[in-house]
Amino acid sequence: MDTEQLEKKLKRLAAEHAADEVENEMIVGLGTGSTTYYALLKLGERVRGGLDIIGIPTSQQTAKIATAQGISLSTLREHLEVDVTIDGADEVNPDLDLIKGAGGALVREKIIAYASKRLIIIVDESKLVEDLGSNFSLPVEIVPFGWQATQLALDRICRRSELRYVDKAPFISDNGNYILDCNFDGIPDPAQTERIINNLPGVVENGLFVNRADKVIIGTASGTRIQERRGAA
Ligand code: 5RP
Repeated sequence: MDTEQLEKKLKRLAAEHAADEVENEMIVGLGTGSTTYYALLKLGERVRGGLDIIGIPTSQQTAKIATAQGISLSTLREHLEVDVTIDGADEVNPDLDLIKGAGGALVREKIIAYASKRLIIIVDESKLVEDLGSNFSLPVEIVPFGWQATQLALDRICRRSELRYVDKAPFISDNGNYILDCNFDGIPDPAQTERIINNLPGVVENGLFVNRADKVIIGTASGTRIQERRGAA
């Protein structure tokens, strides 16, 4: 099995474990990305077998996949309290703080994560790091107006940021915004960095999720491993 196949297998392992924790009549936040994709497949299978849930998608991409799987969807307007959200992450540190947003859905992911009673994160073991910002850049969603000024301000906080592009045009989020990917040599104080970045004019939200994940399900070569936040229900 090559590295890519192994990574998919471990993502699937973690995702299916999380999907198995969903119970009847739950309102379920549906994350975005290649790991969540496997959770959507498993939830779809369970729905077709009689599981009754309502999904709240974190992106248009997820809404499309979930609908194709037969999962009923709604919005936060109809269901302000989400029982559990299942989502991936780009990095997880030992405190279970996260970097998210490589898929560009961080704003909706964060809104739904904070509206959820429980946040379950699903990753393969390559996502575990000692310090956030060591392997992945931190995505920051910004309004397009005056984005160069926002970048200048961000570059005083991180080592260097780059506007995200897709097919030679700036990537546009589901909210109509741009994303700056900010490189750090590690983020020693994620909570403070999250606050400082969100204080800059032009910033909508950043991909640091601090003290929010209740449980991380890690797909490893020897099965799933669970880490739970101290004090989480
Ligand atoms: C999307 C995200 C994803 O959850 C994160 O990028 C992980 O993605 P994948 O499961 O494909 O590795 O935050 O905005």
